[in-house]
Amino acid sequence: MTTLEFSGVSKRYRVRGAGDMLALDDVSFELSSGRTIALVGQSGSGKSTIAKILTQLERPTSGRILLDGRPIPRRGGGLRRYRQQVRMVFQDPFASLNPYHTIRHHVERPLRLDRIVPAGQVDAETRRLLERVRLDVDRVIDRRPHELSGGQRQRVAIARALASRPSLLVADEPVSMLDVSIRLGVLNLLADLQRESNLGVLYITHDLATARHFSDEIMVLHHGEVVERGVADEVILRPQHPYTRALRDASPDPDAHFAASVTTGSRS
Ligand SMILES: Nc1ncnc2c1ncn2[C@@H]1O[C@H](COP(=O)(O)OP(=O)(O)OP(=O)(O)O)[C@@H](O)[C@H]1O
Ligand SMILES: [Mg+2]
Repeated sequence: MTTLEFSGVSKRYRVRGAGDMLALDDVSFELSSGRTIALVGQSGSGKSTIAKILTQLERPTSGRILLDGRPIPRRGGGLRRYRQQVRMVFQDPFASLNPYHTIRHHVERPLRLDRIVPAGQVDAETRRLLERVRLDVDRVIDRRPHELSGGQRQRVAIARALASRPSLLVADEPVSMLDVSIRLGVLNLLADLQRESNLGVLYITHDLATARHFSDEIMVLHHGEVVERGVADEVILRPQHPYTRALRDASPDPDAHFAASVTTGSRS
C-alpha cells in the first residue's frame, strides 16, 4: 500500500505588480492506494495548485509532502521513481498529447524511459495498455491525436499514465472538456481501472454528482482552504459548512441529474 501525505501545505504565488497571492492555506490530507478522494471547489479555489504540487510541477511555499513517510527527492533517481508512482491525467487531452507523434509513441515512451518492460516486450505492453482503456488497438495505434475523438484521446492519456504502473493517479477535471454524452464512459473506465489496480485517485471536479458517485471521500476547497471533508454521501446529504451547502444548492439536483445520466449514459 502506498500513502501520500500532504501536510500543512501552503502555496504563495508571486504576482507581478500585485504582491503575493495565497493559493493554498495550510492544506493537509492523505491519499492511499485503493481510495478515491474527490476534490471540489469553485474556479480559483486552488485545486490545480494541489495537483501541480503533487506532481512536482510546483513547489509548496511551506509544508511537506511525504510518500510512505519519506520526503520527495528533489532530483535524480528518487524523483524519477516518485514520478512513476504518482501520475497525472490532465483536463485537456488535446494539449497533453503531442500532435506530431503517434498514439504508439505516446504510450511507448514511458515504457522505454522508465524501463517498465524489456525492449522486446514494449509493443505487446503498449497494446495491452490500449486494450485496458478499451480502445480498438489496431485502429488507433498508428494514428496521431487529431485523428481521434476527445474521448479516445483522453483514453490514450490514461493509458500513458498507467504505463509506469503508478500507485496514485491525479485526475484534474479529466472529463470537463469532453462532450457530455461520453463523460460517464470515461469516468466509469477510471473507476474500473482504479479497482483493478487498487489505485489511489485524486479526482478533481466541479461536479458534485460525479464526486459523490465515484469517490469514497469528498474534500471541499474554498479560497485555498479545506473547509469540509468526509464520506462522500455525508458531505452531499449533510453538508456542515455554508460554502458546501451553497455549492450543493447551486448544482442541479445531484441525484436526479446523475440518475438521468446513468440510465441514458453510454460507454464510449
Ligand atoms: N502560476 C501562477 N502564478 C500566479 N497565480 C497563480 C498561478 N497559478 C494559479 N494561480 C492563482 O492561484 C489561484 C488558484 O488557482 P488554481 O489553478 O489552483 O485554481 P483551480 O481551483 O484549479 O481553478 P479552476 O477550477 O478554474 O481550474 C487562482 O487565484 C489563480 O489565479
Ligand atoms: Mg484547475
